[in-house]
Amino acid sequence: MSKILILNGPNLNLLGRREPDVYGSASLADLERALTTRFPSAELEFFQTNSEEELISKLHQAFEAKSDVVLNPAAFTHYSYALRDACAVLTTSKLRLIEVHISNPHAREEFRHNSVISGVATGVIAGFGLSSYELAVSWLLAN
Ligand code: DQA
Repeated sequence: MSKILILNGPNLNLLGRREPDVYGSASLADLERALTTRFPSAELEFFQTNSEEELISKLHQAFEAKSDVVLNPAAFTHYSYALRDACAVLTTSKLRLIEVHISNPHAREEFRHNSVISGVATGVIAGFGLSSYELAVSWLLAN
């Protein structure tokens, strides 16, 4: 069974209380519980940080551990070339990294329409609420 790191970026610690009209009312802990329940035999690790440096270090750890990644880069999606380069370390080494978004950034403000991550991601899932994560894990486990 492959290892999967579920990595969440800035402000996602406030899920459930942050802009519930956009991101829903479930918390990050609810999401983690739902994924653990839905995929009982998967080796899932969860990590959330508001720090770009910590996100990058965690991606380096995933690279060393040969772990696939489900990443919600949050606002870093739109401008962090350093995060993009860290993602590319994994995907150019044949590890899979799925970029996920709870909302559909393309249906929102213009600055959200561009992702600097998508070009180095294995795939992108956006706009399905917390199911975006479930779809990503399902795909990783099936492929
Ligand atoms: C987000 C979309 C981003 O534009 C935003 O900055 C987030 C969350 C999403 O999951 O829909 O923080 O990644």
